[in-house]
Amino acid sequence: MKYTIINGSPHKGNTWRLVEIIQAEILRLSPESVFEEIHLKDLELPYCTGCSICFRKGHKLCPHNCIMQSMMDKIEQSDGIIFAFSTFNMQPPALAKNFIDHMCFMLHRPHFFRNKALVVSTTGGVGAKDAVDYVAGTLSGIGFNRCYKLPVLSYSWNAYKPKEKTVAKCKRVTARFHRDVASKKLHAPSFGILLVYNLFRGMSRGYAEGTEYETEDGAYWTDKIRVKSTYDPSIKVPAFKRAFGSVFFSIGVLASKFVTITYKK
Ligand SMILES: Cc1cc2nc3c(=O)[nH]c(=O)nc-3n(C[C@H](O)[C@H](O)[C@H](O)COP(=O)(O)O)c2cc1C
Repeated sequence: MKYTIINGSPHKGNTWRLVEIIQAEILRLSPESVFEEIHLKDLELPYCTGCSICFRKGHKLCPHNCIMQSMMDKIEQSDGIIFAFSTFNMQPPALAKNFIDHMCFMLHRPHFFRNKALVVSTTGGVGAKDAVDYVAGTLSGIGFNRCYKLPVLSYSWNAYKPKEKTVAKCKRVTARFHRDVASKKLHAPSFGILLVYNLFRGMSRGYAEGTEYETEDGAYWTDKIRVKSTYDPSIKVPAFKRAFGSVFFSIGVLASKFVTITYKK
């Protein structure tokens, strides 16, 4: 299995102590596993300019696509992603947030349907749960099939020695993540994910080719692979969840008659 570790911290600090435990545990379970480390600070990814071209015309036209495309390719080619970052002011650091901002367009056009992630963060005292929930929520929204969460209290600045209890928890969560990645099983989406997916599916029809405010979202959702399916066709969805998705698709179609997102032409 191939794992990509994305370090969204500006250094190899307390959170990295946990990444080392996670990596060692995966190697203990499957010695043939391979890892690639990406330190976001080395990418020198400029801040998102807010041009919204990714939403409107496609991410390939993003002024920073030369950096982002290779990151997207690396994620796509990985079996598991370990996304690690510090908790700063109860949230992910700016480095991680900027990276996430560049992937936001996939909340409108989910993409990584076969990827699974382990999201890990340490905090001095409070906020790691919120930071991890925020990142895991975004990854699930952009298609990730499953996200495992590991928010941890370090009570430390740069001198963290994880307690035995924390090491045991870290190994437990890692084992679950690794087992799931190795199984290659693709899980059916949750109700929450289906709700958002189908609202977009319904609402984005208003932006199809030939409409007043046509966008890449419109092209994606009217694509013949996607137009009739309550979720990505590569994932099996039970009938009761398909019915649930269809209800929200109809709500989306209705909403699109009352709300139009405009842009400067
Ligand atoms: C800029 C900054 C902001 C921080 N914000 C918080 C915070 O909101 N809550 C908290 O409990 N600890 C906070 N801390 C402490 C860190 O969360 C804690 O030391 C964490 O383990 C750092 O992880 P790292 O060494 O991987 O960067 C902050 C530290 C820094 C440097």
